[in-house]
Amino acid sequence: MRILASYNIKGGVGKTAAAVNLAHVAADRGHRVLVIDLDPQGAASFYFRVKPKVKGGGKGLVGGKRDLDDLIKETDYESLDLIPADFRYRNLDLMLEAEKKSTSRLRKLLRPLSADYDVVILDCPPSVSLVSEAVFEAADALVIPLIPTTLSLRTYEQLEEFRMEQKIKKLKLLPFFSMVDRRKALHREILETFPKSHTNTLGVPIPYASAVERMGVERQPLTAFAPRTAVAGAYRALWDAVDAATG
Ligand SMILES: Nc1ncnc2c1ncn2[C@@H]1O[C@H](COP(=O)(O)OP(=O)(O)OP(=O)(O)O)[C@@H](O)[C@H]1O
Ligand SMILES: [Mg+2]
Repeated sequence: MRILASYNIKGGVGKTAAAVNLAHVAADRGHRVLVIDLDPQGAASFYFRVKPKVKGGGKGLVGGKRDLDDLIKETDYESLDLIPADFRYRNLDLMLEAEKKSTSRLRKLLRPLSADYDVVILDCPPSVSLVSEAVFEAADALVIPLIPTTLSLRTYEQLEEFRMEQKIKKLKLLPFFSMVDRRKALHREILETFPKSHTNTLGVPIPYASAVERMGVERQPLTAFAPRTAVAGAYRALWDAVDAATG
């Protein structure tokens, strides 16, 4: 079982879009996939039309008293399940703090899922918090959307530094470019130069495309309602790159 987290310190960079579409593509490719919506805003749950409620709130997830199985919901797609967000996740940090060895708790909790799932995708809220530390310990790889701007790249460097400090070097960082507009010279320039100094960069940029925004209207993965668009093709290629880097 591979545990992947769609993560960036920054908000609004395409984490949820990546989590939802990569999950759909992975399931379509024959993997048994579970998405865990860790963001109290519940965007991934919304896109999959799953009601964002977990009994017991975040406590159900980290307390571990409740069997994780009870929290799992089916989606409309074969081999694709979801643990929805709960608004009370906003207290997840406090609850993790109250737990002993809190940050390893999530990893332990996910372990039994390996009988039922090949791929777990965590859709993370933006920030560095105890939740993200728990995610860093639980995940095999972070899939990191980067908008090709200087500030965006800076937050990526900060994440690399944080990873070194925390001695979580076994955690793979898999950055990819998100919301790319090739008409912008800066975007073209960064796409050219950044991968030279960061060879772990996935070679599949996701273009800026209004079809992605329509996910909120359709409430489906883009790869489900607009499979023939170029951006859907990009998400499929991105999954193949993630698959190859983590398989
Ligand atoms: N490739 C893209 N092209 C155009 N719009 C996009 C693209 N990717 C994401 N968006 C839009 O940008 C907004 C933010 O995307 P998304 O919710 O995936 O980001 P996020 O990093 O998960 O945000 P948050 O930090 O709030 O969780 C959404 O309205 C989404 O529809
Ligand atoms: Mg999100």
